[in-house]
Amino acid sequence: MSINFNKERFLHRHIGTNPRQIREMLSAIGASSLDELMDQTVPKNIRLTREVELDEPMSEYRFLEEFRELASENKIFDSYIGMGYHETLTPNVILRNVLENPGWYTAYTPYQAEIAQGRLEALINFQTMVADLTGRELANASLLDEGTAAAEAMSMFYAMRRGNKRKGAHTFFVSEGCHPQTIEVVKGRAEPLDIEVMVGDHGELDVSDPELFGILLQYPGTDGSVADYSGFIEAARAQGNQVAVAADLLSLTLLTPPGEMGADAVVGTTQRFGVPMGFGGPHAGYFATRENYKRKIPGRIIGVSKDAEGNPVYRMALQTREQHIRREKATSNICTAQVLLAVIAGFYGVYHGPGGLRRIAERIHGLARVMHRGLQSLGFSVEHEHYFDTLKVRLESNARKEELKKAALARQINLRYFEDTSVGIAFDQVKDLDDVDQLLSLFAGLEGAGDESDDGESDLQVDVRQLAEGVTVDYPDSLTRTSSYMEHEVFNLYHTEHEMLRYLKVLENRDLSLVHSMISLGSCTMKLNATAEMIPLTWPEFSSIHPFAPQDQARGYHLLFEKFKEQLKAVTGFEAVSLQPNSGAQGEFAGLMTIRAYHRHRGEEHRRVTIVPDSAHGTNPASAVMAGMEVVVTQCDEHGNIDPDDLREKAEQHSEDLAALMVTYPSTHGVFEEDIKEICRVVHDYGGLVYMDGANMNAQVGLTSPAEIGADVCHLNLHKTFCIPHGGGGPGMGPIVATRQLEPFLPGHPVVSTGGGQAIDAISAAPWGSASILPISYAYIKLMGNEGLTRATEIAILNANYLKDRLEEHYPVLYTGQNGRAAHEFIVDLRPFKQSANVESVDVAKRLMDYGFHAPTMSFPVPGTLMIEPTESESKAELDRFCEAMIAIREEIRAIEKGASDAEDNPLKNAPHTMRTVMASVWDHPYSREEAAFPLDYLRFDKFWPAVSRVDDAYGDRNLMCSCVPMEAYSEGQQPAAVD
Ligand SMILES: Cc1ncc(COP(=O)(O)O)c(C=O)c1O
Repeated sequence: MSINFNKERFLHRHIGTNPRQIREMLSAIGASSLDELMDQTVPKNIRLTREVELDEPMSEYRFLEEFRELASENKIFDSYIGMGYHETLTPNVILRNVLENPGWYTAYTPYQAEIAQGRLEALINFQTMVADLTGRELANASLLDEGTAAAEAMSMFYAMRRGNKRKGAHTFFVSEGCHPQTIEVVKGRAEPLDIEVMVGDHGELDVSDPELFGILLQYPGTDGSVADYSGFIEAARAQGNQVAVAADLLSLTLLTPPGEMGADAVVGTTQRFGVPMGFGGPHAGYFATRENYKRKIPGRIIGVSKDAEGNPVYRMALQTREQHIRREKATSNICTAQVLLAVIAGFYGVYHGPGGLRRIAERIHGLARVMHRGLQSLGFSVEHEHYFDTLKVRLESNARKEELKKAALARQINLRYFEDTSVGIAFDQVKDLDDVDQLLSLFAGLEGAGDESDDGESDLQVDVRQLAEGVTVDYPDSLTRTSSYMEHEVFNLYHTEHEMLRYLKVLENRDLSLVHSMISLGSCTMKLNATAEMIPLTWPEFSSIHPFAPQDQARGYHLLFEKFKEQLKAVTGFEAVSLQPNSGAQGEFAGLMTIRAYHRHRGEEHRRVTIVPDSAHGTNPASAVMAGMEVVVTQCDEHGNIDPDDLREKAEQHSEDLAALMVTYPSTHGVFEEDIKEICRVVHDYGGLVYMDGANMNAQVGLTSPAEIGADVCHLNLHKTFCIPHGGGGPGMGPIVATRQLEPFLPGHPVVSTGGGQAIDAISAAPWGSASILPISYAYIKLMGNEGLTRATEIAILNANYLKDRLEEHYPVLYTGQNGRAAHEFIVDLRPFKQSANVESVDVAKRLMDYGFHAPTMSFPVPGTLMIEPTESESKAELDRFCEAMIAIREEIRAIEKGASDAEDNPLKNAPHTMRTVMASVWDHPYSREEAAFPLDYLRFDKFWPAVSRVDDAYGDRNLMCSCVPMEAYSEGQQPAAVD
C-alpha cells in the first residue's frame, strides 16, 4: 500500500466523529448524506453560493512554528507606563495549574453549584479579598475592566438617585485625575442615557449643585498623586450625592481604603494581582459597595448557603437580581465576566497572603521613593508629595522630554509621556533597585543634568543602594492604613508551593469541566478548546506588552489583528471589524451604539425604537436600553419563529422612529427561520438596521452568513463559535463585524488611535479589548480552514439532530424547522413531568450530575425545559453516553409515574448524591446506594462525585453572606452565619 505523506490534519482532532460514525449517525436520523441534512435544515435562500475565502488549513505544529515568528514581531520593553496596567509576576504554581490548566479554563459559569464548588470558593476568596482591601463590605465576582466598572458605578448611582433633592439630577462628575480610558468609557455609557458627564478638578466642584447625582475619583490619581478624600466625600454625600472611587487594589495594603473614607462604591482592576498585561486584557475588574446595595450591584455575586446535608456551600446568590434577567428594566447588561482572571487574582492573594501583598506593595513604593530621592539629587522635581508607585517628573521643556524618550527607547524602556513637559514613572512588582539605577542614569544623561562623558553617559553618580537606606513607608496618618485585612484562614495557610499546589488541586477536583465530560449547554457552545490554540496565550511576546506601548513594539499584535479581522470578514461576509468589546453583551451595546451613531449622522437621531423578539436573551433588551433605545417586543409563533405579521405591524407602527431589530440566528429556539431574509427586508424598508446576536454563529459558519441573511452588524462570541474557553464564566470576547456603512462609527479610544473616522466613544478600557486571547480564535480558523469550519458546522447540526432523534422517543422536543430538523441545538420539554411525577427541570439537572454530566441550559429560552447543544467536538461514544443517561433518567421518572418509585424520596429528588451520603452508615431511602451512585455501568469505572448535596438556593438568598466561610463552619452540621 502506498504511503500517505500528508501530515495529520487538525480537523480530525477537532471533530469528534470519524466518517464511519458520521454515516451511522446519518442513517440513524434518516438522512442519506450531510448535504441532504443541510438542505433539510438550512433554508435554501440563505445558503452561501461560494466558498469562504480563508487560507488553507495548517497542521498544529506548522502553525505554532509560524506563529512564533509573528510573536517575535512584538518587542518586550520594560514598562513604567502605569495607567492601570502593570507588569506582575504570575506565581508559577498558578500559571501552570490554573491559567494553563483545562481543569480550570474549560469550566462553565457556576450555575450548577454542586459541581462548581472549586471555582465558587476561588471567587468568594476574590470577593473577600476585594471587600477587605477596599474597606467596603460587599464585592461582586468580577466585571470586565476598570473603565466599565466605573461606568457601572455611574449607572447604579443613576438608578438609585436618592431623595427629592436628587431625583431629577443628570450630572455625573468625573475627576480629571482618572485614567483617560476610564473617563471615555464613562462618557460613552452616559451619553445615551442623557447623563451629562462633567470632567474637572474635584476641589473646585460645587457638591450642592442640584444637577449632580454622583462623582468618580481616582486613588491614587492617574498621575500618581494620593490625597485624602474623606472630607470631600462627606461633604458630597451630605448633599445627597454618591461617590465612587477607582482604586489601585495593591496600594490599599498601605493606604487608607476608600471605603473607610466613606466611598459608596470602590471599583478598579485586579490585573496587577498576577494577571499578565496581555496588551490590554483579559483582566478582572472589581466592584465593591455597601451591603445594603446588594440588590443593585451589577454582575454576579457568590454567596454562602447550605446543602441538603446542612453543610455550608457556595453558590451564585440573588440570581433573579442579575441585571440582564431584568431585561428592559436593567441598568447593566453584564453576563460573561472575567471569572478565570478573578480566580487567578484571588489565588494571588491566597498565595501571598496579607503580609506578602503588603511586602510587594512596600517594595514597589520603596522603589518610587528611592527614585524620588535620586531625581531630587539630580535636580529634578517630582510633582506630588504623596504617591504610591507613580512619580510625575517635571522636565524643563518638550525638548528634554523627547531627549529622555529617545534615550529610554534605546534602553528598551517605556515611560509615560504627558501632554505637558512631564513624564510618568510607575513601578511594579517586577522592578528592583537595578532598574531604578538604570532610570536614574537616563535622567542623569539629560542635557543640563550633569556633564556628559564621551559615551554620552552622565558622570553624575547616584548610588541607589545608598539612597535606599532608611527609606520607609511614611504617609500622613490620614492616608495610612491601620485596619487589618485578609485575616481569614484561606489567606494565611497556603504560602508554600506544596500547600498551594494541593489547595488548587482540591478545588479543581470539585469542579466538573470539559476534561470530564460533554457539557451540552444550548446557546453557550462548549466546544473543544484545543491545546495548540491555547499554547501562545502565555508566551511573553503576547502577555508582557502594555496596551499603550508604542505601536511599533506591538507589530506582532497588529499583524494578528489584521489577519484575524480578514478571517472574521470572510466568515461573516461583512467589511468592517472592531475587536474592542470584551463579551457578547458588550458587543451588543457597541453594535447598537454604532447603529445609533449612523442614524444620527443621517439626521435621524429620533430613531430610537429597537424591536426585540420575546425569545431573545436578556442581554438584548438590556443592551438596547443602555444604548438609549426604546424596546418594543415582538412575538414568536407556535413554531418558535418570529411572527412575521407581528413584526411587520410593529415595524410599520414605528416606521418614523425605528432604529433596529435585534435577532438571534438561528433562533434561540434552535431553528433556522425560513423567513429571516424577509424579516430583515421589512426592517430595512422601515428605515431600521438589523443587529444579529452572534451567539449561534457556530450553526452558520461556512453554510450561510450574517451578511447573507441581511443583517447589518453582529457580534461574534469568540468564547463560543471560535473556541476561546469559557474560563468558568469568562474571559470572553465579543468583537463586532459590520457593513461598510457602519465602519466610520466603530469604537475609538482616547489613548491609542483605533476605530472609525467618526468613532463612538470607547466601549472597553483597552483599545483592542482582551487582545491576548485573540490568538486562540485566530489559531482555530488557521487550523481548520474553510473546509474544516464548514465541516464543524455540519457536524454540530448532525450531532444535535442525532441527539434529538434519539431523545425524541423519550422526551417531547419543542420546535424544529420545516423538515423536522433542529439546527445545532434543541429544546426538550420537561414541563409535563411536573404533572405526572412532580419532577421539574432542576431535578433532572441535578440527577445528571450523578451520571457524570453537567446539565444542558435550564429554562432558557423556555421555562421548565432543557436546551441541548452537543457541538461538533464530541465523539459518538460521548453522545451515546449522554443519551443513555437521559434515557435512564426518563425511566426513573416513569417509575415515579407508575408508583414504582416513591413520589418524594427518589433518586431525582435527592440528587445529586455525594460520596458522603452514599457511604454513610445509615441509608434509609427506598432505592439502593448503587442506584443512587452507579445507575449506569460506566459509572463504576469512572465516577465524578459531586462535592455537595442539593444546594438550598432560597436559604442562601434569605441569609446573604458573600465572603469566605470560617473553617470551623465545616464541622458537621454547622450552618453559615447570616449577615442579615
Ligand atoms: C443568545 C445570547 N445572547 C447574548 C449572550 C450574552 O453573551 P455574553 O455572555 O458573552 O455577554 C448570550 C450568553 O450566553 C446568549 O446566549
